[in-house]
Amino acid sequence: MLTCEQFDRIRWLALRLTGIELFPRHREVLARKIRRLGIDGEPEFDALLNGADVGDPEATRQFVGLLTTNFSGFFRHPRHFDLAAEHALWAVHRRGAARLWSAAAASGEEPYSLAISLIEVFQRDHPPVTILATDIDEDALTAARQGEYGETALSGLATGHRERFFNPGMKARRWRICQAVRDPVEFRRLNLTDRVWPAAGLFDVVFCRNVLMYLEANHRYAVLERIASILASDGVLILDPTEHLGRVSPLFGPGTNGVYTRRRESCHATGVASFPPVGLRTRNENL
Ligand SMILES: C[S@@+](CC[C@H](N)C(=O)[O-])C[C@H]1O[C@@H](n2cnc3c(N)ncnc32)[C@H](O)[C@@H]1O
Repeated sequence: MLTCEQFDRIRWLALRLTGIELFPRHREVLARKIRRLGIDGEPEFDALLNGADVGDPEATRQFVGLLTTNFSGFFRHPRHFDLAAEHALWAVHRRGAARLWSAAAASGEEPYSLAISLIEVFQRDHPPVTILATDIDEDALTAARQGEYGETALSGLATGHRERFFNPGMKARRWRICQAVRDPVEFRRLNLTDRVWPAAGLFDVVFCRNVLMYLEANHRYAVLERIASILASDGVLILDPTEHLGRVSPLFGPGTNGVYTRRRESCHATGVASFPPVGLRTRNENL
């Protein structure tokens, strides 16, 4: 069991390093994870917290992995993918190219589902579209880059998708995403609560599903405000249907099933703190 002091320190560090807000109910879950990882001895665990506190990369990686929930799946809310692909098609007709962003890509199912939908809507491999796929969790990103999944993860796929877009993996009953689906996706580490995002230019579609719920309210609104500032004026933001915009809703048109369009007016209408323009490098060049 974590001591009160250890849990308080984890909460404080989690908020500072990731924007994730922990509540007393998380204490037991965290204690179980720490036990499972075999770092529950006091000296090891305090060393991990000290390392994360001073920005040691390995300690930070491990600490972030303790806090995150990476559950995802192919084609969660399938209509979101149809809609995003149709919007990209329309953007390509208007501007010649489209940019999409999966802002909490976890182990890759979401950006790969997007890539599959794009290939289908454009009816060819290599459509003129790029998908930036980011997450704060390096271990999740490693799994995402590997792109190999078990039967359960693939259960959301439509008939024929497995045969068309996957190859047999290295192990039995594992499936590897094919090259044409990998090609448009670029994975990068990005902390949504960093004050500057290393992503220049505007996006046509941003998926930010099932991540805001973990963030402390001010971070949540700040992230949404910045997303509004990097969405094309006709761009689309996609949240999970159970998530809401709260006090930043004036930045977007009314949404249905988690799909919102950016309003054309200023993105600073809510009075939420604004941020430096995107396109500048953050303090962490590795992002
Ligand atoms: C439940 S998964 C969501 C996966 C996918 N978007 C979906 O809906 O299926 C939440 C992801 O958010 C990531 N995350 C948590 N805090 C973050 C932050 N501050 N910046 C970026 N990603 C974060 C976690 O690492 C995790 O992979």
